[in-house]
Parts: sequence; C-alpha cells; structure tokens
Amino acid sequence: MELIQRPRRLRGSEVLRKMVRETRMDKSSLIYPLFVKEGTGIQEEIPSMEGQYRYSVDRLPYELERLQNAGVSSIMLFGIPDKKDEVGSGAYVQDGIVQRALREAKKQFPDLYYITDVCMCEYTSHGHCGVLCGHEVDNDGTLKLLAKTALSHVQAGADMVAPSDMMDGRVRAIRDCLDSNGYTGTPIMSYAVKYASAFYGPFRDAAGSAPSFGDRKSYQMDFHNRREGMKEALTDIEEGADIIMVKPAMSYLDMVSEISKATNVPVAAYSVSGEYAMVKAAARMGWIDEERIICEMAVGTYRAGAQIYITYFAKELAKFMDEGRIG
Ligand code: PBG
Repeated sequence: MELIQRPRRLRGSEVLRKMVRETRMDKSSLIYPLFVKEGTGIQEEIPSMEGQYRYSVDRLPYELERLQNAGVSSIMLFGIPDKKDEVGSGAYVQDGIVQRALREAKKQFPDLYYITDVCMCEYTSHGHCGVLCGHEVDNDGTLKLLAKTALSHVQAGADMVAPSDMMDGRVRAIRDCLDSNGYTGTPIMSYAVKYASAFYGPFRDAAGSAPSFGDRKSYQMDFHNRREGMKEALTDIEEGADIIMVKPAMSYLDMVSEISKATNVPVAAYSVSGEYAMVKAAARMGWIDEERIICEMAVGTYRAGAQIYITYFAKELAKFMDEGRIG
C-alpha cells in the first residue's frame, strides 16, 4: 500500500500526541461560580447540584482556601438574599450579601480575582431579571438599577463585573456609571450570548430565582438563533464589553467558535448548572466515566475557541491539569 498521508504517524506515543496537541489549557483561565447566602455557619449542599454548596459569609473562606490551594484563582459570586422585594433592592444596598462577602473575602484572600454576577433575579420577589411594568420587564427602568448594583460591587471590592440580565443597553449603562465614579479600569464581562435555556434549572433551585410567572424568553435569546447571538456580541462590544460570554456552553459551541473568529475580544463559555447536574447524575448511576467526561467537555469548549471557562468543575479540572491528563 503506498499511502502518502498516514495521520496515525502522529498518534504513536503519548509524548508525540502531546507534542502535536492543538488545544492547550491553563488553570489561570478557569472561573469557579460560588453561591453566598445570609446567615452564619452555613455550608449546605445544593440538592440538584451534588458537590456544590451555598456558604454563609463566615464559611466562604474555607472554600476560597480550597480554591487557592487547587490553583483556581478566579471566582464568580452569586448572592442569595434573605429578603426579596419588587425592585430587587438587595442587589444594590451597601450591606447586601454579595457586597459583604466581597469585603470579607478580599480581606482574607486578596490575591484571588473576584467577579460578580450582576442581575436582579435573585433579589426580586417575582424572580425576573429586572423591574416590572405590569407583567413586562421594564428594560430602561432596569438599567439604572443594574448600574447601581455593579457600582456597589466594585466599591465593595469586585475586580470585574458580569451582567447576566440581558436587558438592552446594560453594558453601556454600567460602563458609564463605573467611569463617572472613577472606575475606568474595571473590566466588564458581558453575558452577551445568553439563551433562554432549560440548562439553568438547577441554578434556579440553588439561588431560588425561578420566575414566579411567565418565563425569560422576552429577554434571553431564542436558542434557534445564531445570527442574533452575533448581533448581541457585537452590540455589547460596541457598548464597552471587554469579554464576551456564551452561555450555556456544551450545546452552544457553534456560538463560541463563531464569536471567537468574528471578534477580537476574549471569549468566555459558561458550563452551566444543568450540564453539571447531568454529569453528576449519570456518573452516580455508573453510566459514564465522570472524570473523562469532565475533561472532554472542557477541552471541547477550549477547542471551539473559548479562552475562559466558567465551570463548577474548576477544582477538578485544575487537578487534572496538574496531573497532565489534559492541558
Ligand atoms: C442570572 C443567572 C442565571 C445563571 C447565571 N446567572 C440564571 C438565569 O438566567 O435564569 C445560570 C447559571 C447556571 O445555570 O449555572 N442571574
């Protein structure tokens, strides 16, 4: 047989396979989402997200230490308040749950990098991502509250803010507000390409943020649409977004790929709660090899073009990278 092309030549040994690897990853690109709630002495497991916990502010440092030891240096904070109201005031008060967690965490672990999720849904009594006008989410009325929330996070020590509400114009509103308060250097990671997805189910249990009526389809994107995702990404870049996020990850890698090719900003992908829960459930049944699945999902996301990976498996991935199993 006179074969000229023999792709198998480059697969002959582990050393060679590693030499020709096209996707290389690093722990510094991992972000770990973390839930913080009111109270003291609390570390409670989230039923739909086995292995993930809600922490009270005093317990948070234990987890931060584990992350730091694992080599995961960036976290994304989500707040779970005790009280909710119509206008989500818990999101932007100075002593809100995220603001207090930030002050405490920064004091104890100043070298970690703190990103905050900026949204209203955990704080509104109706569970929508903005304030209501009748049964509609009022876009423009929500913008100033989002900006106020982002500013209060930055004042409490956030290094970066990540708006996830999907209101039009929110990146611009947040950028203007941060700039006029002297925070011109604080980056915005926009959840720009965020779809209305059933993959968020376990998160809404975790954060108690499911809408009390209707759904989020009037602000999050229809998952049939690809070109619209590009429009959202480009609009947010024009408004001043420094990093563009695609969410969820696994079923949306076409978007990661397209956006990384069509733009020149870093692209982040968020492997969301439903992705995590599916892996955990199948692994518990003994139907999949959990560790290998975690690696494949991560590498697939980077291979598609993500530079940043937000995942509940951040500590596990950091370990696999240390062991040379991936990366
Ligand atoms: C909104 C927000 C959500 C998630 C991150 N930010 C929930 C939603 O849009 O309903 C989902 C994250 C996940 O599922 O892991 N604050």
